[in-house]
Amino acid sequence: MRVCREEIISALNAPDFTEYFKKADAMRREAVGDIVHLRAIIEFSNHCFRNCAYCGLNCKNKSLKRYRMEPEEIISCGKEACSAGYKTLVLQSGEDKFYTKEIIGQIVQELTSCGVTVTLSCGERTDDEYAYWRDCGAKRYLLKHETADSNLYADLHPGYTLSERLSCLEAIKKLGYETGSGFMIGLPGECAESIADNIILLDKLDCDMAGIGPFIPHPETEMRNHKAGSVTITQKAVSLIRILRPHMNLPATTALGVRNKEAYTEAFSRGANVLMKKVTPAKYRSLYEIYPTEIKIADIRDERASLCEFIKSLGRIPE
Ligand code: 5AD
Repeated sequence: MRVCREEIISALNAPDFTEYFKKADAMRREAVGDIVHLRAIIEFSNHCFRNCAYCGLNCKNKSLKRYRMEPEEIISCGKEACSAGYKTLVLQSGEDKFYTKEIIGQIVQELTSCGVTVTLSCGERTDDEYAYWRDCGAKRYLLKHETADSNLYADLHPGYTLSERLSCLEAIKKLGYETGSGFMIGLPGECAESIADNIILLDKLDCDMAGIGPFIPHPETEMRNHKAGSVTITQKAVSLIRILRPHMNLPATTALGVRNKEAYTEAFSRGANVLMKKVTPAKYRSLYEIYPTEIKIADIRDERASLCEFIKSLGRIPE
């Protein structure tokens, strides 16, 4: 089913969204079944040369202790997650040129040879780098567009443009990556129209995955005094995307869980079918602070086992 801009806007403005939530759940079941995909995230570097107005890793944040994991450390962490049962690894970092095309390529090769699917999430790089990593075996790439409003994009990302971002996403898609984008809920000037534009952009980019999370203020950013995004609007956006593009992979985002645990759980019955879990080594965990969050550290295996129980308790199948 195609949902047009006006329909998205009127759905978002509807006094009662219950029927859309139900429809999203039914469409999720029909299109992608009851499996919830577990993804292990390794946050391998918190260095970032960008200065995004919302993100705690921004280069102006001098109070943050920076770290970089060695390639061997990333590989052994990936292998541990793999042996704990994860089938997909997401390698995420700030925008950090320390990791060259070859270094990332070698990590991807090493991990894919263990039989795990590798998703990269290392920001804007050249088409040549994206192509090289694809050849090394990377299957998916995550690069959220963050906002479909080009003026707001330029305000939030000094020195960068939405069109550059979209060129990267188009290149990624063309190279045959499963392509992930997404946006934040609660950015300045948000309204039903801007959310509709974000959803339509995902469709236009022909995204295979999308992460929708509420904005959470971080004290070491320009947006420190801006209000956090709504958890209900986040859920509504996820549901509408499921209705618009039933086959997409849609996580219940970590940011949603940080804002509200119940809303996070509920998201799985409102369209979500993916759960992402940090497996970053304990000593780095608290340093990858995009937004303030409580850090809980458990053994990778135990944590995965309890996630599986959680998913089963929702009547779903962990994978
Ligand atoms: N609040 C919520 N989400 C954030 N992100 C970055 N900073 C914040 C914040 N303060 C999200 C962005 C980015 C992803 C890694 O985390 O969408 O793409």
